[in-house]
Order: sequence, then structure tokens, then C-alpha cells
Amino acid sequence: MKIIMLGAPGAGKGTQAEMISEKYGLPHISTGDIFRANIKNGTELGKEAKKYMDQGQLVPDELTVKILLDRVAQDDCKNGYVLDGFPRTIPQAEVLDAELTKLGDKVDFAINVDVPDDNIINRMSGRRACVSCGATYHVVFNPTKVEGVCDKCGANLILRDDDKPETVKNRLDVYHKQTQPLIDFYSKKGILKEVDGTVAMNEVFNAITAILG
Ligand code: AP5
Ligand code: MG
Ligand code: ZN
Repeated sequence: MKIIMLGAPGAGKGTQAEMISEKYGLPHISTGDIFRANIKNGTELGKEAKKYMDQGQLVPDELTVKILLDRVAQDDCKNGYVLDGFPRTIPQAEVLDAELTKLGDKVDFAINVDVPDDNIINRMSGRRACVSCGATYHVVFNPTKVEGVCDKCGANLILRDDDKPETVKNRLDVYHKQTQPLIDFYSKKGILKEVDGTVAMNEVFNAITAILG
């Protein structure tokens, strides 16, 4: 099963993708997580990506597409995957489609987690991310057992660099201009599924499992 998670920054794509990954045994692939891991390790890719991410802009398609195609070509992706944060532009979606078509394959579901902009800003300020495994928490909506410590791996939690309110506003603008058109793109292909992302996390997940089966 190949699943794409669509939605604004902070809509809960990563949270839901993680739950899908556990339940269905599919790798969770987040281009944002891949970039952040590269920034942390000081790679050339990380240095390049950081210039854009710190501004709330998208990393150029050429760079992003290459990373993603390399990742989905790995062995663990044979039975499918959950993509979180990719595609984010029409050209990215077209490349993915073309690659899958070459393999006689296709995306099964594009799930749009719908959350209005007003809710987003609140969520972002309370988000905490694990420096090591990338797990995501929220100080109010999804707290860890011990404050500041990841439940999964015990590493420290941080506030993401791009979660400052000004940057979040830019990310929302970029989302509306460059990523929202994908809703129409996948709707025309007949694989778009909409879920209400404003309800509690487990309710969002129930709506998703009802779709995936
Ligand atoms: P990326 O890491 O993908 O960030 P994003 O799309 O901005 O989305 P987020 O990770 O911020 O939010 P999310 O939807 O995953 O929400 P989460 O589950 O954390 O990308 C970062 C940057 O990398 C981009 O700006 C760009 O520069 C670059 N990039 C990445 N991919 C790219 C691509 N394909 N092309 C070009 N550039 C790319 O939830 C948010 C918070 O809310 C959490 O605290 C969570 O606990 C909480 N929460 C979740 N669900 C609920 C709920 N139902 N109720 C209450 N709280 C909730
Ligand atoms: Mg995320
Ligand atoms: Zn962790």
C-alpha cells in the first residue's frame, strides 16, 4: 500500500503517518525528517536544505525528488510506504507518478488532513520533537511521560527551528500557494480522501483506518 499524507504544516501528517506505519507495518518517510537528520549531521545536503527551511520556503524540487526516489528504492519499501511531506508541489507529484508508472505501480491513497490556519499556530508553539528519533509530541495534546524526554528513545526534546510564529506564517503561505493544488491533483485521479484533522489524534486515526481498511 502506498499512501501520501497531505495537509498544512502542523496538520498532524507526521503524527498520523507514525500511527499508520506502526499499524500497517509500512516505513514512514518524511522528507522533512530526512533534511533535519542531514542538518544535524552537518552534511552538504543539510547545509543546502537549511537555507530554505529556516525561511519557511521549500527546498528546490531537484534536490528533494532525488532524495525521495533514492529512499523509496530501498528494500524496506517493496510492500509500500507512507509519505509525509512529499509531494509538496505539482512537479514533485508528477515525478513520483512517472516513476511509479514505470514500475507498473501507483499511489493508492492521498489522505488530506484538514486543519484551518487558526488552529495551526497554536499547535506549533506546543510541539516538541525528539533530537534523535524524530518522534513528535505536544505539551498539551500529546505530552511525554517525563517532561523534555522522548518516550520512545530517551533522548532530549527540542522546539523545531522553523516553529517560530513568523516562520510558521511563511510556511502556511507557501503551503497555500504551492502544496494545496495537490488536493485537486489527487482528487482528479480519484484517490483523494479527506479527514477532519481538528479532532483528537485517535479520532483522526480512526477515520484514516476506516479508509485504509
Ligand atoms: P516538514 O517537516 O514536512 O514540516 P511541515 O509540512 O511544515 O509539517 P510539520 O512537520 O510541521 O507538521 P505535521 O503535519 O507533520 O504535524 P505534526 O504531526 O508534527 O517540512 C519542513 C520543511 O522541510 C519545509 O518547510 C521545507 O522547507 C522542507 N521540506 C520538507 N519536505 C519537502 C518537500 N517535499 N519539498 C520541498 N521542501 C520540503 O503535528 C503538529 C503538532 O500538533 C504536534 O505537536 C502534534 O503533537 C500536534 N497534533 C497532531 N495532531 C493533533 C490533533 N489531532 N489534535 C491536537 N494536536 C495535534
Ligand atoms: Mg511533520
Ligand atoms: Zn526519540
